[in-house]
Amino acid sequence: MVLRDSSGIIQCVVDLSKPHLKKAEEITLESSLELTGVVKKDPRAPEGIEIHVDELKIVGLAEPFPIRESAVAVDSEYLLDVRHLWLRSRRMQAVLKVRDTVFKSIHEFFRSKGYYEVQCPMFITAAVEGGATLFTVDYFGRRDVYLTQSSQFYLEALIYSLEKVYTIAPSFRAEKSRTRRHLTEFWHAEAEEAWTHLNDILHVEEELISYIVNRVLEERVDELKVLKRDISRLENIRAPFYRLTYDEALEILHDKGFYLKWGEDLGADEERALTMEFDKPVFIIGFPEQCKAFYHKNDPKRPEITLSADLLAPEGYGEIIGGGERIEKADELIEKIRRFGLDPKDYEWYIDLRRYGSVPHSGFGLGVDRLVMWICGLSHIREAVPFPRDIRRIYP
Ligand code: 4AD
Ligand code: MG
Repeated sequence: MVLRDSSGIIQCVVDLSKPHLKKAEEITLESSLELTGVVKKDPRAPEGIEIHVDELKIVGLAEPFPIRESAVAVDSEYLLDVRHLWLRSRRMQAVLKVRDTVFKSIHEFFRSKGYYEVQCPMFITAAVEGGATLFTVDYFGRRDVYLTQSSQFYLEALIYSLEKVYTIAPSFRAEKSRTRRHLTEFWHAEAEEAWTHLNDILHVEEELISYIVNRVLEERVDELKVLKRDISRLENIRAPFYRLTYDEALEILHDKGFYLKWGEDLGADEERALTMEFDKPVFIIGFPEQCKAFYHKNDPKRPEITLSADLLAPEGYGEIIGGGERIEKADELIEKIRRFGLDPKDYEWYIDLRRYGSVPHSGFGLGVDRLVMWICGLSHIREAVPFPRDIRRIYP
């Protein structure tokens, strides 16, 4: 029989002719055991070693296990229904270990660079990323309470106290379409830094991604092999990353047969086409005002574009980070809020941050599940999360 714990699997040999081991015959798939025995080298065993069992205790005899690994496609709806059990598969075990290293290394990176970790509220009263994807909460009958889409505005408040801050928290988006890269609840690593401009924050982003990928390569090569990930693709991920302006991206896309008008946002198909050939992530810099949320600072030299950038992962994966420089001046912010058809009254405290000693500042948000999806080479974001939530799924 094959035994699993969190460290991996090992083959066990049980001599059924020994009366006190005869009960091994009853053991069903996924039963839990305690055993003692002698570890022996055996080149025929899957891991090169096996345990010759001396003592055996059945702790939890399993009912017939509903999943047979070989019988199901890895992204089937059925495996999502039994995700609470599928988490035991070698495949999920590998993804979860890579995910662990990714979260750990985000903390390592920010702490080593002098950022403070902060915690922001999940109940909020004003949209950060537009009203279309807000989840409304029944908060004692109040109508204007939502789940957060991003901690950004709170991080902006906190830089006046701590200058360099980050948080890792869930964000919520009422994404009405089901795509390979959208969840309704995702993990968001966000940073905000005082006294920085767009270029400064792009450096932080590429250093962060390089650091994470490098840590995964140090710790999780075995897991990447289980996932059949082409590791050579990750070994190349080192800053600096490529930089394209939005205008250049549009030209490349035209040559590939995508006829976007200037001012239109890139969708998943465009991002896939753009990044298919790249061997490293690529920044798309300077999106038109109408592509991005109101808080982005417009470029003083070219006011129709913003000092914003998305970071796209290679191999077709597309956007993993959105960020840029924020508006510094209260009057400029109020005017832009109005221009976007919003009410400055809803953003009073956010505007206050510009009234009492404003500083230039920039920040970004990394979609951690998308990062894990790319690093693991998964075809669907649901595979990167232990208990995914999307428009149809909130069970288990
Ligand atoms: O580009 P987004 O919407 O930017 C923001 O929320 C900014 N306020 C962040 C900031 O500057 N502090 O989201 C940031 C990232 C995206 O690049 C993407 O990786 C991820 O969050 N993301 C999602 N991931 C999974 N499912 C969704 N529905 C996502 N929406 C955004
Ligand atoms: Mg974005």
